[in-house]
Amino acid sequence: MRLHPILLIKTLILLILFIAIFDKIYLQTWHSKIKIILIERKLSTVLTSNDEFNQISYTLEPFTAKLPHFSDDEARNWFLNSTYYKLYSKQCPNNACETNGFLFNGLQEHRQVHIAFIKNGLYLNDKCGYRYSEDAMRRTFKSSNQPSVIYDKAIIYTVAHGWRFQHFLDGIGPKLSHSKIYLDKYPDAKVVIERGPWIDRSVEQIWALMGVNESNRLIHYKHGTKLGAHLLINPCRTPATHPILWHDARRLYWSLANLPRSDPLLSRNKLIYVRRTRINAKISGRHILNEKLLINIVREYALKHSLEFIQYDHLKENRIEKEIELFYQARIIIGVHGGALSNINYAQSQTTIIEIMPYRAEQNTAPVVCIFSKPDEVKPCVGYIYYVQAQLLNHTYWILPTEVDDEKNLHVNLTRVKRLFDSLV
Ligand SMILES: *[C@@H]1O[C@H](CO)[C@@H](O)[C@H](O)[C@H]1NC(C)=O
Ligand SMILES: *[C@@H]1O[C@H](CO)[C@@H](O)[C@H](O)[C@H]1NC(C)=O
Ligand SMILES: *[C@@H]1O[C@H](CO)[C@@H](O)[C@H](O)[C@H]1NC(C)=O
Ligand SMILES: *[C@@H]1O[C@H](CO)[C@@H](O)[C@H](O)[C@H]1NC(C)=O
Repeated sequence: MRLHPILLIKTLILLILFIAIFDKIYLQTWHSKIKIILIERKLSTVLTSNDEFNQISYTLEPFTAKLPHFSDDEARNWFLNSTYYKLYSKQCPNNACETNGFLFNGLQEHRQVHIAFIKNGLYLNDKCGYRYSEDAMRRTFKSSNQPSVIYDKAIIYTVAHGWRFQHFLDGIGPKLSHSKIYLDKYPDAKVVIERGPWIDRSVEQIWALMGVNESNRLIHYKHGTKLGAHLLINPCRTPATHPILWHDARRLYWSLANLPRSDPLLSRNKLIYVRRTRINAKISGRHILNEKLLINIVREYALKHSLEFIQYDHLKENRIEKEIELFYQARIIIGVHGGALSNINYAQSQTTIIEIMPYRAEQNTAPVVCIFSKPDEVKPCVGYIYYVQAQLLNHTYWILPTEVDDEKNLHVNLTRVKRLFDSLV
């Protein structure tokens, strides 16, 4: 279909107005909200545009991630020998990781945010992430029998395992943070996520709170489906990690639970111990064998500092709003590495996070959840994810590396735990 010249001019004017308004209202309010974190969003929004394909792109500033806090040399040495440190210590400004942190500056991987709007777009299993190719992004269908299904409008969030709570937060969250406005703008647009064997209750609830109803709006994309949409909205080409995206996503979760943007540190009074039990964990191992004694120490600390001690078991909480609110009120969160620690996404900046990090004696340079084919292999690993998230969210992160036994369970050294709590200001 060709556009009439007058129509074309009208469209152009509308587009220009749209950018102007988007820039002013949206980016600038965003910008001013972000002031506290000293990282600025560049306002050089670029619009690629024609009849068939529109794209809004902008570039975020580089960011740094501080090292964890350590309460003893054992923890420090473990981290300095870890595969994470080996991978990223070359990126520390002036080679001073302890003072300057790791610098992340990759344009595609860390800084460039894109959202594309494709007329008669065709989606075919493409991986929803910053490596999304330009060709796949622009793919369209030419006749209506080419796709296996056609929606009028659809938004793509097919992040791997996005139906799980932790991957909703670490994969879909950063993409939602800049595309949620289109969920509201197009309430009839379908929302496409990866199909899993189930969908976590909290994921279903969070979508419902955003007006995306399981029964009529959420599409569980089946591998191999040729999915077409007259307007296909694609926010996939976005970094998985950047503080701005994570802060924005966190504010979005708070808004779903009707919580204000932030509260003074002193009004947060909860010390939350995140439990990992044989019932609530989907994967075996990482159980704390001397949990009772650990709890005694944590409870004692809470009492002494007038904090409310909470033992948190995610199976016992039925409403996502309650979960968000609970972690919003946290001063300190402690737990062993595991999915339930994803709740740190709801905690406010400067919450103290203590992660008990299990590792094997024979692979003592990486978390137990990392699998390497060779013992000296150095490659990215999900085991550091809560460390990274805590840095993105401006929490205060402490690591307590602890060796596991043959069943991958652990005895936490209580002397070290006490020392760590004594180090907290
Ligand atoms: C983290 O929070 C503190 C206190 O609110 C603030 O001074 C600092 O600028 C923040 N840093 C980042 C990177 O957000
Ligand atoms: C790495 O571990 C060894 C022991 O395996 C230790 O002697 C050394 O101090 C550690 N390296 C660093 C940089 O901490
Ligand atoms: C979601 O769908 C169900 C079933 O169609 C309906 O009863 C419910 O009102 C819907 N909720 C919203 C928020 O649209
Ligand atoms: C616990 O940690 C302390 C202090 O680092 C150490 O002296 C002690 O040997 C450890 N206990 C065990 C059982 O490893």
